[in-house]
Amino acid sequence: MLQTDLSLEKLLFNLNTLAELGEEITSPKDFTRVVKSALYMVMGSFSATKGVIFQFDSDRGVFAPIASKGLGDVGAAHVKLSKETASALTKHNKPIDLKKGEHPVETLGEAAGVLEKLEARMIACLVVKDELLGFIAINGKFSGEDFSVYDCQLLSVMAQHISFSLHSHMLLMRLMHKYNENKGLYENLRRIYYDTIHAFAASIDAKDSYTRGHSHRVSAYSAVLSREMGWSHEEVEGIRIAGLLHDIGKIAVDKTIINKASPLTSYECRELNSHPVVGYEILSKIKFPWKGIPMMTRNHHEKVDGSGYPDRLKKTDIPIGARIMALVDAFDAMTTDRPYRPRLSFREAMDEVKANFGKQFDPDVVQPFLTVIRKEVRREVDNPTIVPLLQEQLDSVSLNRMLEGFPVA
Ligand SMILES: [Fe+2]
Repeated sequence: MLQTDLSLEKLLFNLNTLAELGEEITSPKDFTRVVKSALYMVMGSFSATKGVIFQFDSDRGVFAPIASKGLGDVGAAHVKLSKETASALTKHNKPIDLKKGEHPVETLGEAAGVLEKLEARMIACLVVKDELLGFIAINGKFSGEDFSVYDCQLLSVMAQHISFSLHSHMLLMRLMHKYNENKGLYENLRRIYYDTIHAFAASIDAKDSYTRGHSHRVSAYSAVLSREMGWSHEEVEGIRIAGLLHDIGKIAVDKTIINKASPLTSYECRELNSHPVVGYEILSKIKFPWKGIPMMTRNHHEKVDGSGYPDRLKKTDIPIGARIMALVDAFDAMTTDRPYRPRLSFREAMDEVKANFGKQFDPDVVQPFLTVIRKEVRREVDNPTIVPLLQEQLDSVSLNRMLEGFPVA
């Protein structure tokens, strides 16, 4: 009777431990802590004082400790198993009493020496889907008793619980590894993509000896202006790329026409003015991750009064990105030297913008453009973009004077 009561008490204790173990290994805690707690529970169930959980390290091809107790620093201890031994342990898949020398202990080879140093008495394999993920090694019971059949069954169930947790963790680690690998590949591709676009922009600008850096400035100005207009990060990125490529159609135009200092003939004019359509045809064949780049390129010489080219679009029929680029493209052309004239001063450029307000340029774009310049001159922004690229100093007082009488949209 006494024996039955004790067994029942033990059974209840072990069931409780199993429930706690289940709870522990499915908790969202840090994996190292989970494994440690699991090991402590296993050891507690058998009143063992020393224990280690080994996990297979596929990089090194060895089983390395991931949690230990009562053995000091076991970081360097590792177990190497032959394929045959690993296979025999996987098939056996039951706790093994090392003291009894049960099969497949005889196949352990050098690993037996490592386990002996760790004073291991029992080992329980951690197996999922015929894969040996690791094993638990614990020393003998504090009482010196042997491990009963019941103890072995309990250890086996505990090892199964830990196996599933270890398996999930290893899957997660593999996924993370793949994710990081793919992220690295994506970053590389992204860099190549951007480098290619920058190389295109440089090749366009190189054709025109007067407009070095024009595409980069149009790109930067378009980005800062669209951001001021409340565009999303993705949209700003799209117009930044469109700015770099907006004159790509000029690669089909003869260099002598682009660099001609005297007035162009009607044929030369037609040739030069074909560049937005040529650019559109080139870019519309590319699947960009951003919307509207081909149309922004096609329509960057349109004017809101309908007198631009190539489609003679009016007002809001012109894509908003193209209206932004039309302003900053003209602004940069005015404020840099050209084959046929030296650059205009900022005041002269602003007078031009004022004179063409609502004719060539969209008032809804000009106003935020002026806001950006005001903010930059007043040093209200951390990274000014437009003002540092102008070849003159501007101060708030002179700027106010220059912008006096600007029509309101
Ligand atoms: Fe252009």
